[in-house]
Amino acid sequence: MPQVLTATGLTTGHAPFVEEARHRGELYIRQAYELYSEENQEAWRRLYQRIRPRWERYANDHFLKGIEALDLPPDRIPRLSEINQKLQPLTGFQAKAVSGYVPGFLFFDCLQRREFPTTITIRPADRMDYLPEPDIFHDVAGHVPMHTEKAFADVLVRFGDCAHTAVRLTADLRDQAERTRRLTNIIKALSRFFWFTVEFGLMRGARGTCAYGSGLLSSYGELEHAIESDEVQRYPAQLEWLINQGAEIDHYQPVLFIVDSFDHLFEMVDRLERWMRDGKLNNVAPGLPEINESDLRSFMDAAGAV
Ligand SMILES: [Fe+2]
Repeated sequence: MPQVLTATGLTTGHAPFVEEARHRGELYIRQAYELYSEENQEAWRRLYQRIRPRWERYANDHFLKGIEALDLPPDRIPRLSEINQKLQPLTGFQAKAVSGYVPGFLFFDCLQRREFPTTITIRPADRMDYLPEPDIFHDVAGHVPMHTEKAFADVLVRFGDCAHTAVRLTADLRDQAERTRRLTNIIKALSRFFWFTVEFGLMRGARGTCAYGSGLLSSYGELEHAIESDEVQRYPAQLEWLINQGAEIDHYQPVLFIVDSFDHLFEMVDRLERWMRDGKLNNVAPGLPEINESDLRSFMDAAGAV
């Protein structure tokens, strides 16, 4: 009987509702709130209660204000409709439920429309500390509070602009091998920049160095490690470094980058787009992340539509 119960619900890796939608080719889905099991709700409660004191210590002030503005519930999984009612009047952003991985261009295109693709499943109770794929705790407790901040929201929209520029710059290249090579480099640069800022960024603040990256803000262990550990190299963010630094995903980040403010971050995304137009992103350093076929295809298929 316990096996039957754990197989139901919306548990990452064991959510028939989501898997069936994916098999039908449906990317956008409803949250299906009635399917969350008591075990799923308990996972949210434990994750939230455990990390809350670390947010107060290590999260940037904009994030803490965002938690309050959204009235993020500590004791149950939030309904995206409730979150959106509070979020949309602030920055126009909305969390939009998806069935799984959103290929690169589609993801950035959503950001440009102020929609954030949001995972609805939650990690299993025996994997509280580490999950390679996103879950609702990462997406809603880690990302969405930042979307209440206007300057940060504008940064995300600018990422969307960059993806559109990448498509326009490569759409007319006749030489398909060269088109693939350039796009692969540009997507790698965009992915690295997103990784070291939106996912794992640090910011200078009145209380010292704080986290604004969602990968840090949704990880009880790494949030403290990122700020306190002597092993972590922390450097002022420099665009040329971010786009050439390999992004390693399966362990705590050894190198992190600090921005001064979200205006600083916005200026860097702006410069990223200029560098792309100048051709500077056509030859970035090899290494992680690998750009998969579906990411590349999503940029190729968008030609003519942007
Ligand atoms: Fe994320």
